Amino acid sequence: MLSTSSAAVVRATLPAVRAHADAISTTLHASVLAETPVPGGVFNGGNDSTGAQSRALAAVVVAFADHLLGGARVPIGTVLERVAHKHASLGVLPERYAAVGKHLVRAVHDVLGDAVTPAVAAAWEELYLVLATRMREVEAVLYRDAGVDPRHPVTPWRVTHRNAEAEDAVSLLLTPADDTPPPDHRAGQYVTVVVDLPDAGRQARQYSLSCAPGHSSTRITVRRARGAAGAPDGLVSTHLCDRVREGDLLDISHPFGEFVPGPAGGPLVLVSAGIGVTPIAAVVEHLADAGSRRPVIAVHADRNPQRHVLREHVLHHGTRLESFRQWNFYESGATGAVLGRVRTAEIPVPPGASAYLCGPPGFVREVGDDLVRRGVAAHRVHREVLGPELVEIA
Ligand SMILES: Cc1cc2nc3c(=O)[nH]c(=O)nc-3n(C[C@H](O)[C@H](O)[C@H](O)COP(=O)(O)OP(=O)(O)OC[C@H]3O[C@@H](n4cnc5c(N)ncnc54)[C@H](O)[C@@H]3O)c2cc1C
Ligand code: HEM
Repeated sequence: MLSTSSAAVVRATLPAVRAHADAISTTLHASVLAETPVPGGVFNGGNDSTGAQSRALAAVVVAFADHLLGGARVPIGTVLERVAHKHASLGVLPERYAAVGKHLVRAVHDVLGDAVTPAVAAAWEELYLVLATRMREVEAVLYRDAGVDPRHPVTPWRVTHRNAEAEDAVSLLLTPADDTPPPDHRAGQYVTVVVDLPDAGRQARQYSLSCAPGHSSTRITVRRARGAAGAPDGLVSTHLCDRVREGDLLDISHPFGEFVPGPAGGPLVLVSAGIGVTPIAAVVEHLADAGSRRPVIAVHADRNPQRHVLREHVLHHGTRLESFRQWNFYESGATGAVLGRVRTAEIPVPPGASAYLCGPPGFVREVGDDLVRRGVAAHRVHREVLGPELVEIA
């Protein structure tokens, strides 16, 4: 908890910090990148280019301040859990928090100038300490339960098979290089993959496991991120799609993530866009393997049928379920399919349903808000965004 005096100072300065969160993020971004060692050597190159990670971090700090002061704008427990899983998959070390905190307070100082008196700086340092302590605790539990030493977050795995998937995507089957069975994951989780690139050094990215647990190998399915408007193509996805061959080794983390529907419970509405179908494919297979009786509605949006990855996988395992319906929405090129974006009004939402949405941030936000408007309880709408998730603080 914050001391009463610090709470009063944070309350008085929160509007200014919130209003300048973007500028604070930019300053934070530059100084963290310059000085703080991070797992894998670097922050995610693509997110670096946009400062998305620092913006996500600053937004969480503001949301946490709001929460401690009694505001309830965002479900802070869920947000911290998500970040902790991401950190654990990257092997963030508890001792790194002090340096990031130093940069954060310096960034607030740089942006707000003389308004940051020693008392203001001390209050925000205290807030950061409360937040960092809570995150370190959550991460310690994740490391302990997974049996992971955060100083060695990845181990070598062998690519046993490569499958070209729909347009611009590839599936890689993977087994631990020491021939032990893959650790059991919970369907919907992801791993961090770390690669050494000749021109860009060591890069870490997350990939959802696209098959159910319990097999002798596991699988990721990767879509090449094409650069738009002259931007370069994605570093790691291009490497995995073009250069990684059967027999190659990849450094891979333990599975983490909380986007995990269990086999018991009410109806499930699973909604994906593009490559966001990967965790959904694992979930549908797992529900079928577990003999789940949950009615499942799978909804997918894609540009066209040629880009629809793992369509047969979802259909095949879906038809093993007691109750399964599939809706596909394509922007073009489909016969017999509904054209256009996902029209949530057309999706039947059974009473008591839980929804799991995975795809780009705008898609997930839009569909999630629509489902809540249609009566799905907000706490039953679970979201996985394929990049740093920006908590809304405005
Ligand atoms: C939990 C989670 C699960 C995920 N699961 C999957 C999955 O199952 N399958 C999958 O394919 N992906 C998945 N992703 C996304 C994946 O982690 C990567 O983000 C994705 O592969 C792109 O990484 P990259 O290295 O290829 O692109 P990066 O090099 O990181 O680039 C990202 C984007 O930024 C653009 N870019 C790069 N440099 C610039 C610049 N200078 N200016 C403007 N734009 C630029 C690139 O064109 C690209 O579109 C997941 C992400 C998360 C967080
Ligand atoms: C209280 C302090 C911190 C907060 C609030 C915080 C918050 C965040 C958030 C919100 C994300 C994006 C998560 C998502 O995918 O949605 C993130 C990712 C990340 N964090 Fe932290 N973080 C903190 C401390 C640290 C520390 C100490 C390190 C290690 C030096 C670190 C390293 C990373 C890395 C490497 C990523 C992934 C970056 C990417 O994929 O672009 N973080 N953090």
